[in-house]
Amino acid sequence: MVPSDTLEVRIAAIRDEAVDIRSLELVPVDGQPLPAFSAGSHIDVHLPGGLVRPYSLCNPPAETHRYLIGVLRDPASRGGSVAVHQLQPGQALRISRPRNHFALAPKARRHLLLAGGIGLTPLLAMAEQLAADGADFMLHVATRSPARTAFATRLAGSAFVARVRFHHDDGPAEQRLDLAALLARPDTGTHVYFCGPKGFMDAVQAAALAAGWPADQLHLEHFSAAPVSHDSDAAFEVELASTGRVIAVGADQTVVQALRAAGVDLVTSCEQGVCGTCITRVIAGQPDHRDLYLTADEQARGDQFTPCCSRSRTPRLVLDL
Ligand code: FES
Repeated sequence: MVPSDTLEVRIAAIRDEAVDIRSLELVPVDGQPLPAFSAGSHIDVHLPGGLVRPYSLCNPPAETHRYLIGVLRDPASRGGSVAVHQLQPGQALRISRPRNHFALAPKARRHLLLAGGIGLTPLLAMAEQLAADGADFMLHVATRSPARTAFATRLAGSAFVARVRFHHDDGPAEQRLDLAALLARPDTGTHVYFCGPKGFMDAVQAAALAAGWPADQLHLEHFSAAPVSHDSDAAFEVELASTGRVIAVGADQTVVQALRAAGVDLVTSCEQGVCGTCITRVIAGQPDHRDLYLTADEQARGDQFTPCCSRSRTPRLVLDL
C-alpha cells in the first residue's frame, strides 16, 4: 500500500555515474517546489511491483526543484537496486517526504566524512551543505577503483575539491584509506560520519573505538544489513495495545508480515533494520533486536523496536498500535 502522504515525481534524467551506479534526477510532477531536506536525509522510493526502498538524497540540500539519488546495481540484493536500474527517463514514481536519521551535528567544530563505495551519497549532500556553510570538513571517499567511484567528476569540479581525498583499493598502498592514522587522535570538537558496506562500517567503528572516540561523536548509516541466521527463530505473539487484539507471529514470519496477514499495515521501507521507518513503541515484553538502526543504549531500553526484522525474547510483545 502506498501511504497517502507520498509525493509524485517524474524521472527527469538517468545518468551513469560509475560502473553499475546510476543517478536518478527526480522532479515534481506538479511543478511546485519539493519539500526542503537537510543533509543526510533519505526518501523511500515506491518501485514498480510494490517494493519500497530508501535512498539518500545526494544533491545540494538548498535545492527544491529536484531530488538526486545514486543507486548501485547489486544483483545480490533483494531486488530494489535491480528494479531501479530498469527505470526509464520520464517515468513517474511515488516517493516519501525526506526523513533524516543521519544529520550533521550542529555544534561540531570540524566534520570528518568517511564514505565507502555508494555510501558516499548522504555524505555528498553533507559536503555540499558544509561547504555552503563555510564549515571545516574533510571528505574521504574509499572505493575499489576509479571506475567504480560515483560522482568523481562532480567532486573534482566542486568548490570544495581541496577537502576531498580519493582512496582506491587497486591503487598504490600510500593512497589507501588509513583509518588508524586518520582516527588516531580523538578531538572533542570533531564529529565523524561514515556510511558504506558492512566491512567498511566495521573497520571504521573498530578504528574509532580503539582510538577512544566517544560514541556520541560517531554518526553512521548502514545501507544494508548482513545476512543473519534465522535457524533459532521461534514463534511469539504481539498484542495491539489500542484494541487488545493478539496476533501470532510464526517462526518463519516477521512481525510486519504477521500484522499484514491480519490486515494491519505498517509503513516500511528497507525491511532489514537499517532505515528506522518502521520503528514502533513497545509497551510490554522484551524485544530481540536484530536491527542496525537503534543505538546500543536505545536497544537496551527496550521501549521501541523495528518490527520488520526484530523479534521477541518474551512470549508476547505489547505494541503501541
Ligand atoms: Fe527499515 Fe524497518 S523498514 S528499519
